[in-house]
Amino acid sequence: MIVDVVSLFPELVSAALSHSIPQRVVDKGLAQLNLIQLRDYGTGKYRSVDDYPYGAGGGMVMACEPLGQCLDALMEKNHYDQVIYLSPDGDRFNQPMANRLSLSKRLLLLCGHYKGIDQRIRDQYITMEISIGDYVLSGGELAAAVVVDSLFRLLPGAISDETSALTDSFQDGLLAPPVYTRPEVWRGHAVPPVLLSGHEAEIARWRHEQALERTRQRRPDLLD
Ligand code: ADE
Repeated sequence: MIVDVVSLFPELVSAALSHSIPQRVVDKGLAQLNLIQLRDYGTGKYRSVDDYPYGAGGGMVMACEPLGQCLDALMEKNHYDQVIYLSPDGDRFNQPMANRLSLSKRLLLLCGHYKGIDQRIRDQYITMEISIGDYVLSGGELAAAVVVDSLFRLLPGAISDETSALTDSFQDGLLAPPVYTRPEVWRGHAVPPVLLSGHEAEIARWRHEQALERTRQRRPDLLD
């Protein structure tokens, strides 16, 4: 999978993805992450990328021309399965969406800033808008990093224990069950005996019951 990210602060995206599993995925050649500096397509002496909004309202708007030039250059060279704009007004990101997107060959992610991007760019180029939650970030970079991280960990070979990504919270529509490691007893608190029993079927049943119970308590909406 190849992911191209267009941003005014590409270091923010790379900082979040240059550790742990996402970095390993890139190192192993399972995915490629390309960061494109939108400023390179800015206009005038100051390589400006924004302008004042028409009509009422404060703040600046990311202008059509730099974005149009940048997106044209990328789309001339590459075919994208989706051109994604990260925005608080997008569809709420979730695990089924991550699963679907992880099957893509190439994605283009566009990070907004200021009051957002000119609507005409959204209308002409964007095929999908994603929000990572009902709050406003300073820009789309952290949201893009969240999306890319969740996709990369799903790629075959990303995680050494093949089943690990499948047992993540949300993969079966449930929160993950509690996990334990050594010692067997810590400050008087013991590991649930079933986990030491060696009975695979019983352990699987216990895990499922725990996942159900945790979901019922913390996220009953997921069971609806
Ligand atoms: N840009 C700013 N806030 C955002 C959010 N919540 N999700 C995605 N992109 C954003």
